[in-house]
Amino acid sequence: MPSDEGERLQKVLAALGWGSRRVCEDLIAEGRVTVNGEVAELGRRVDTTVDDVAVDGVPIGARPGLVYYLLNKPRGVISTAHDPQGRPTVIDLVPGEPRVFPVGRLDGETEGLILLTNDGDLAHFLTHPSMGVDKEYVALLRGGSRLSEGELRRLRQGVDLDDGPTAPAKVGQRSDGTVVITIHEGRNRQVRRMFEAVGHDVERLVRVRIGPIVDGRLRPGAWRELSLDERRELIRAMAEAGRR
Ligand code: URA
Repeated sequence: MPSDEGERLQKVLAALGWGSRRVCEDLIAEGRVTVNGEVAELGRRVDTTVDDVAVDGVPIGARPGLVYYLLNKPRGVISTAHDPQGRPTVIDLVPGEPRVFPVGRLDGETEGLILLTNDGDLAHFLTHPSMGVDKEYVALLRGGSRLSEGELRRLRQGVDLDDGPTAPAKVGQRSDGTVVITIHEGRNRQVRRMFEAVGHDVERLVRVRIGPIVDGRLRPGAWRELSLDERRELIRAMAEAGRR
């Protein structure tokens, strides 16, 4: 691969939880990192979907003890770790050990895909606004109402919310009236508030994609582990988002 393609090795390592970028640079400088079996030089770029990267012989993304779950959150389950009101939480739906926490939030009424992990570095990377990977939602509007062309345009361009304007979004209306909206920010109740800003209430909201992660077969309340490929794709998507 030409040296100016792919992601910087220390950035990939940091995103996968091997330490700060500085620490990861040291790992590389100390000759502890290999790419496709060869000791990597500082400044090396890699494509994690094809290159085999290892630290001290351990494949990256395979750090022992780290787990990555994908859950299909049902309506009425909240996505904080604890709820003072005693409502069911996403934590109740996945294995109790090791302890994990949700990556970002879905509001109580919103359904769909949410990641849970005990990998604090990855979670931090994934939720940092500058790293915001695309999140795709399907919305059903109250009363079966439909968006006009002007409303679609406003949503696409960005609308003013009380915490500031939203970034441009991808928005499309399907023939059954449901709206598919893709954003990369993660503000509280953002999609609902965007629709309210153009005069519509959301009746049902489902997150169907987080970056490259999709799963149309995971039933509400069910979870599964992310595959190594999915974790690699996620890192790639985050690195791309970081350049946006
Ligand atoms: N937008 C919302 O309105 N709710 C969510 O849970 C996520 C995005």
